Amino acid sequence: MGNTNRLRAKITGTGMCVPDQVITNDDLAQRMDTSDEWIRQRSGIQERRWIRPGETPADLGKQAIEQACEQAGCEPGDIDCLLLATLSSQHDFPGSSFFVHEALDMGEIPCMDLRAQCSGFLYALSIADSLVIAGKFKRVLVIGCEVHSTGIDVSTRGRDVAVLFGDGAGAVIVEPQEDEGDEAGIIEVRMHAEGKHARRLWIEAPTSANTPVRITHEMIDDARIFPQMEGRYVFKHAVTRMPEVLLETLNATSHKLEDVNLFLFHQANLRINEAVAQRLELSEDRLFNNIQKYGNCSAASIPMLLAETTRDGRLKPGHLISMTAFGSGFTWASALVRW
Ligand code: COA
Repeated sequence: MGNTNRLRAKITGTGMCVPDQVITNDDLAQRMDTSDEWIRQRSGIQERRWIRPGETPADLGKQAIEQACEQAGCEPGDIDCLLLATLSSQHDFPGSSFFVHEALDMGEIPCMDLRAQCSGFLYALSIADSLVIAGKFKRVLVIGCEVHSTGIDVSTRGRDVAVLFGDGAGAVIVEPQEDEGDEAGIIEVRMHAEGKHARRLWIEAPTSANTPVRITHEMIDDARIFPQMEGRYVFKHAVTRMPEVLLETLNATSHKLEDVNLFLFHQANLRINEAVAQRLELSEDRLFNNIQKYGNCSAASIPMLLAETTRDGRLKPGHLISMTAFGSGFTWASALVRW
């Protein structure tokens, strides 16, 4: 692989897939006590996508990967490592990546699930960056893949969480490239976690810490199988940690806030992103959000933003982009990339 000091890991292809079933806020209002006005006002979300019976996370992942390969000018068979970030695995044991691997007939390449929730894509991107720079792999696929719709409480009891989430997958291909002085590629990624907040945004059961079995009828009846969130607590931490890690990442490089062409934030809540932008005094024209259409797709949200902005012309070669996420764990991370 030559002189590793001169290698950079570059994102060469992006892709996304969402199910075709659109669920509007009014659709949700027919299932629970909520309203279009409440959801839009608090989160900015207008609609989200849900899978139909028979569809799987692997189906979404497969299509996102095929799109990413097409943009990168390669075939799924050219990928030599698959990293999948999710908090809604197709099966807890062994995860989701293996079913994507199967769907794309990926031979014997290694694959794994990575658990860092809504920051999972940036965590996986950081690992892909290290693997590629170290010369371990030539074409690493990083995918965020979530199906939330089958794991939320769509009754009034679960309304605070259920209205926020959607299904989707987003994928990127990461390849090595000689740095020719234009720094094209992944420049810096910074990650953090604070496990003491894990119970503030989590799913309590099933849990291997419960004896003698992980799940009981009582746990189901008490709705402990659905996500629980202390909304305001999460909100407060997100609007503090996101600017913090974004600036930490920039400061680790020679770049400044004003050099960044496009800021892509995890799509948890439009109000969180507005608050982050306000704290950093970022102008509207350097931001892009798509939560209005898709809701919170957790680990898939940032690669979905990349897939849309590379296709609609917002993201152009040479642009400097800053991507930042916050999620359950708590986890938070930021990446600076020259496109
Ligand atoms: N529809 C209508 N009313 C709802 C509702 C819904 N979907 N969900 C909650 N409510 C009600 C509550 O019961 C509460 O009623 P009460 O005042 O009678 O008790 C009221 O609305 C306000 O609830 P509250 O939780 O205080 O609202 P909020 O202003 O904090 O907004 C969130 C709630 C979830 C939108 C907000 O806290 C948030 O976005 N948090 C961060 C979420 C997030 O980003 N999670 C993922 C991180 S990766």
